[in-house]
Amino acid sequence: MKVSLRIQQLSTMVHGHYTHIWDCCCDHGLLGQLLLERGRADCVHFVDVVPALMNTLEHHLQQDYGDRRWQVHCLDVARLPLSRYAGAGEPQLVMIAGVGGDLLVDLVTAICQAHPEVPVEFLLCPVYHNYKVRRALADLSLGLISETLVEDKQRFYEILHVASAGGDPVSPVGERMWDFTDTVHRAYLQQTLNHYRRMASNPHQDVSAELQAYQRLEPAFLPLK
Ligand SMILES: C[S@@+](CC[C@H](N)C(=O)[O-])C[C@H]1O[C@@H](n2cnc3c(N)ncnc32)[C@H](O)[C@@H]1O
Repeated sequence: MKVSLRIQQLSTMVHGHYTHIWDCCCDHGLLGQLLLERGRADCVHFVDVVPALMNTLEHHLQQDYGDRRWQVHCLDVARLPLSRYAGAGEPQLVMIAGVGGDLLVDLVTAICQAHPEVPVEFLLCPVYHNYKVRRALADLSLGLISETLVEDKQRFYEILHVASAGGDPVSPVGERMWDFTDTVHRAYLQQTLNHYRRMASNPHQDVSAELQAYQRLEPAFLPLK
């Protein structure tokens, strides 16, 4: 299967073994299939709201993997049945990638509020609105396990692995993510600063907090020798 750099990076950030991994908003289900192949879970759950997508995926999974170690759910990710699969205090891994930051925040918030007692980890890769996503994760008291930046087809993606228990505070602009010796990271910070500077020139939008937070990274952003 042809797998993008973004999906490959998401897969490599899954180090442990989980009883349940949820590939949410899965569409083609490529991320879940990579983890199935890597044997990272007792069961990989594929979740999307579009029935036709899930019928096609289910047929494909049956052909390639038989009936074992996976389930398909056609439902709204906000209604993920985590409590039904909770056991022995082990965290379940919920992955949400390739959706906008606003929807991603709504889904993570709904899951946390519906299952406050269930240990859960999230592997998240929003499309846009990373600052807003990070603030929301911190407000939900989720702790950072790891974070990284990936460039795929000339677009940048932040990936965050967070947990309901443990981990470090989630920074609104990323702390561990940056490596300013890397030209990809330098290009991303420059693009982000340009974006907020453009927005700041619009009197109807207040992005001063965002701009200041990214500008504080600039001293580390010295010219490469
Ligand atoms: C662009 S695809 C992302 C596919 C894959 N996760 C990736 O990163 O490439 C977005 C998918 O999210 C699904 N989706 C959007 N809102 C959803 C929701 N509330 N519950 C479940 N699936 C949803 C859409 O049906 C679509 O298939």
